[in-house]
Amino acid sequence: MAERTILITGGAGFIGSHVVRLFVNQYPDYRIVNLDALTYAGNLENLRDIEQKPNYTFVRGDIRDLSFLNEVFSRYSFEGVIHLAAESHVDRSLEQPTEFILTNVVGTVNLLTAARNQWKSDFRGHRFYHISTDEVYGSVEHGGFFTEQTPLDPRSPYSASKAASDQFVQAFANTNGMPVLISRCSNNYGPNHFPEKLIPLMINNIINNKPLPVYGKGENVRDWLFVKDHARAIDVIYHRGRVGEVYNIGGNNEWKNIDLVHLLCEVMDRKLKRDPGTSARLITYVTDRPGHDLRYAIDSSKLQTELGWQPSVDFPTGLDQTVDWYLANAEWLRHVTSGDYRQYYESMYAGR
Ligand code: NAD
Ligand code: DAU
Repeated sequence: MAERTILITGGAGFIGSHVVRLFVNQYPDYRIVNLDALTYAGNLENLRDIEQKPNYTFVRGDIRDLSFLNEVFSRYSFEGVIHLAAESHVDRSLEQPTEFILTNVVGTVNLLTAARNQWKSDFRGHRFYHISTDEVYGSVEHGGFFTEQTPLDPRSPYSASKAASDQFVQAFANTNGMPVLISRCSNNYGPNHFPEKLIPLMINNIINNKPLPVYGKGENVRDWLFVKDHARAIDVIYHRGRVGEVYNIGGNNEWKNIDLVHLLCEVMDRKLKRDPGTSARLITYVTDRPGHDLRYAIDSSKLQTELGWQPSVDFPTGLDQTVDWYLANAEWLRHVTSGDYRQYYESMYAGR
């Protein structure tokens, strides 16, 4: 067995697949174990290019099952955990909050418990790295930015479950001495993003000439970061972050939703050789998301000054690459937009 074995949970999802790829390619001497339940959001097609690599192992399983996790921890001798598995979509959390408690809270506590069971005789050299989110801070409505000191103020079932898991991670550090790291990132975009989220949903609908549902007045603001830059930040924090610390990660790239959708329409018209203005005519204002957070804005200066990370891909370049990826991967899009996703889509947008 390789000397350094790292468990990555949720590696078949959007961000997790980029993290798994980066670690598998960049660290051929590590063994990377990807543990994923393959929910509607988990797609092994995301990892086709690396699945045959000798340092990669996939384990299908559910973090809600503690005895399964104990068995996995005793099968492999994990140096560390990078925990991304979660229910991740705010709109779904409004309909099915219990699923979010079970996976995001109970699942995270199970993972902490399994790690503690295995590492408790000597925590030295181990790391439990929890991928949290900027949504735990709530909404920053009057200017300013979230820092790592901003009090947690989650306002949706999704962010409440992420805030609870974030705090359980800190509680295990406090009570057991678990060597933890936490990062809280802003909105990601890029290849392999499931088309229930804003950018890939709009790209998919533009391709198919379907309405572009903008919630409310489209005035909500998000800070967008290219997913590969998030994966780079996770690499840096896992290897060089100070144990016990929280690091914010952001793109310093705030966009009002409606401006972002207009920009995307322009890019798509150009790529699809449609007349300027064609895609924008599909924009449809729909009922707002209940309790819709107005603005997320991250101050990531701690990560930048302490660990030297900064975003490497500017937004026009990242958006261009993202659109090109979706246009070149029609089969991926077709696969994920069938079955469960379609039913979900119909129920979520019926009446809107
Ligand atoms: P995603 O929904 O694309 O992927 C989640 C993955 O977790 C899927 O592969 C799914 O199969 C797996 N999973 C779900 N429930 C599981 C369970 N019970 N057991 C094992 N595996 C399970 O999510 P994402 O957008 O890639 O987000 C990954 C992580 O990053 C999440 O923790 C999320 O909260 C956090 N995050 C996301 C963003 C973003 O913009 N997407 C930003 C900041 C933080
Ligand atoms: O900030 C980090 C978070 O970003 C992550 O923790 C979440 O996992 C991730 O899903 C994302 O949450 P958001 O709610 O910000 O992302 P979403 O893509 O769902 O929505 C982005 C914005 O666009 C939000 O203001 C709602 C709006 N929106 C979304 C959809 C899907 C629309 O106007 N229309 C839509 O159809």
